[in-house]
Amino acid sequence: MKQVYLTGITTTGTPHLGNYAGAIRPAIAASQRSDTENFYFLADLHALIKSNDPASVAQSRLEIAAAWIALGLDTDKAVFYSQSDIPEIPALTWLLTCQTSKGLMNRAHAYKAVVQENEDAGSTDPDKGITMGLFSYPVLMAADILMFKAHKIPVGKDQIQHIEMARDIAQRFNHHYGEHFVLPEAVVDESTAVLAGLDGRKMSKSYNNTIPLFAPEKQFRKLIMKIKTNSQEPGEPKEADGNTLFEIYRAFATPEQIEDVRRQYADGIGWGEMKQYLFEHLNLMLRDPREKYQALMAQPEEIGKILEQGAEKARAHSSVFLKELYKAVGISAFN
Ligand code: TRP
Repeated sequence: MKQVYLTGITTTGTPHLGNYAGAIRPAIAASQRSDTENFYFLADLHALIKSNDPASVAQSRLEIAAAWIALGLDTDKAVFYSQSDIPEIPALTWLLTCQTSKGLMNRAHAYKAVVQENEDAGSTDPDKGITMGLFSYPVLMAADILMFKAHKIPVGKDQIQHIEMARDIAQRFNHHYGEHFVLPEAVVDESTAVLAGLDGRKMSKSYNNTIPLFAPEKQFRKLIMKIKTNSQEPGEPKEADGNTLFEIYRAFATPEQIEDVRRQYADGIGWGEMKQYLFEHLNLMLRDPREKYQALMAQPEEIGKILEQGAEKARAHSSVFLKELYKAVGISAFN
């Protein structure tokens, strides 16, 4: 039996190095194996939880789609689509919502983080600014995953809890209605799971510290030069592990390259020199994809066609499966 790999990227903001290391690269690698089936998508319904700005959601959809293709996803082999093109996903979300205990959602990190912020700010309403979209975000994500009977979900560490919730919800549904759902598992690449950003904290859109994958070369170099370092002088031996420049390099280098740079740290490489080295390394990796990306961005209708074909393939599964699920819960045609 083939292993089904599935992952999505929320379409807010511009694709960054963390998206590549955490989701796109492992997903593409999985899609190149012959023993897998692959479902990769733009989580554009999830984007609405975070953004009320139509123009930026539209731009991000285009950029993230172009990034997947430019970085080498074979869209003839993998099923590549927009979540919003699959109407069965919101329908399944409802079936799952009716199996999800509110207490489970109360424990979701994304929701709890905002409650904490409200409390820290001394607000009298702990749920201030929290929509039902944010609160039930893990249910929509469970529908994404369970719809395609996915086994393996390549994600960053921060998403592990959501995959566990998808399992819980699936188990509850299976318990009531029979074994319809496959229980998914997160696939987290330990070496890159917490890629550091410009300021050394986890690279994340919410920290505003991301390094975009496809910034023009000059701007890309400038950003790398901006990565925060300490006051150690050239010539001083330096600790590689935990250093932001090293950690970013490590995520995109071979074991031999990593050992070589580790030695250079011990020999006291200067921060300026290391930044230049990191820039050249990443730039080499991104040069061809950047060109492809720019060509794709100039032809949005090509991207549109690819996504339409993907949605058609995805719906061949989802429309059949949703009927089965409706029937299982007691909703089917009388004739
Ligand atoms: N929530 C994920 C993120 O923000 C994106 C996402 C939505 C996803 N649905 C998914 C990831 C299903 C994996 C599987 O990164």
